[in-house]
Amino acid sequence: MTNHTIHTESGLGDSGPKSQAASLLSITDLHKHYHIGGQDLHVLRGVDVTVAHGEWVAVLGSSGSGKSTLLHLIGGLDRPEQGSVTFEGRDIFKLPGAAIDRYRNRHVGFVFQSYHLLPELTALENVLTGAMIRSSILGWPGRRNEARQRAVALLDRVGLGDRMKHRPSKLSGGERQRVAIARALVNEPDVLLADEPTGNLDAETGKQIMSLITELHQQGQTIVMVTHDQQIAESADRRLWLREGSLGEP
Ligand SMILES: Nc1ncnc2c1ncn2[C@@H]1O[C@H](COP(=O)(O)OP(=O)(O)OP(=O)(O)O)[C@@H](O)[C@H]1O
Ligand SMILES: [Mg+2]
Repeated sequence: MTNHTIHTESGLGDSGPKSQAASLLSITDLHKHYHIGGQDLHVLRGVDVTVAHGEWVAVLGSSGSGKSTLLHLIGGLDRPEQGSVTFEGRDIFKLPGAAIDRYRNRHVGFVFQSYHLLPELTALENVLTGAMIRSSILGWPGRRNEARQRAVALLDRVGLGDRMKHRPSKLSGGERQRVAIARALVNEPDVLLADEPTGNLDAETGKQIMSLITELHQQGQTIVMVTHDQQIAESADRRLWLREGSLGEP
C-alpha cells in the first residue's frame, strides 16, 4: 500500500494550537467496520491521504469499495473505529460535540449523489437551510438577509437565477444537483465533498456539472470527489484508487 500521508501535528481540541500544516486535511490509518447480521464488514482498512489547500482529489473505486463511507468520515458524518481525520491540524474526532457540529456546518460542504433536497422547500429555501443550520436560532433573524443574498447569488452562479421558487420535483436532475451544490457552498466551506456528483445525470448534464466544479476549483475551492468514472476523475489534480480498504495510486 502506498502511504500518501504527510503527518501533521494532531491538535487535541478546539482550543488547542493550530499546527502550521501544509495540508488542509490529513487522514491517517482510517478504519471503518460495519456490523450487520452477525457479520463484520471491514470496509476501510487503513486509509491514508492528505489534501492540500486548493487541491482537487478524486477517489475512484468500484461499487461497494467504501468511497461514500470514506467521504462521510471526512465530513464528520460518521466515526471510524481507528485512525484520524485532521483538519487544519486538529483531529475532528477528538473535538467536543459542538465543535464537530461546527466543523460539519462551517468547514465542509456536502454534495450527495442523490441530491438530498427537501421536497417541500423551494430551490432558494433549500440553499438557505445550509445557512440556517450554521446559525443559532437567536442569531438567525440578524443573518437571514445576508444569507438570502448569498443564496440568491449562488443560485445565479449555478445558472438557476430563474428557478429560485421551483420545488425539487419541478427541477431536472442537473438543476437539482446544481441546487445541492449551491447549498453546499452557502457557508463558504473550506472543502467541498462531492459523492458521485454526476452519478444520476445524463452525459451532457454531467458535463455541465463538471464544468461548474472545475470553475469552483479554478477559483480556489478544495475538493474531494468520489466517482467510479475515470473520465470524470481526469479533471482532478490527483486520482487515488480505493481498493481492498486502502487508497493507492491508479
Ligand atoms: N450503514 C451500513 N451498514 C452496513 N453496511 C454498510 C453500511 N453502509 C455501507 N455499508 C457497506 O459497506 C460497503 C461500502 O459501502 P459504500 O457505500 O461506502 O460503497 P461505495 O464505494 O460508495 O459504493 P457505490 O459506488 O455503490 O456508491 C458496502 O459493501 C456496503 O454494503
Ligand atoms: Mg457510494
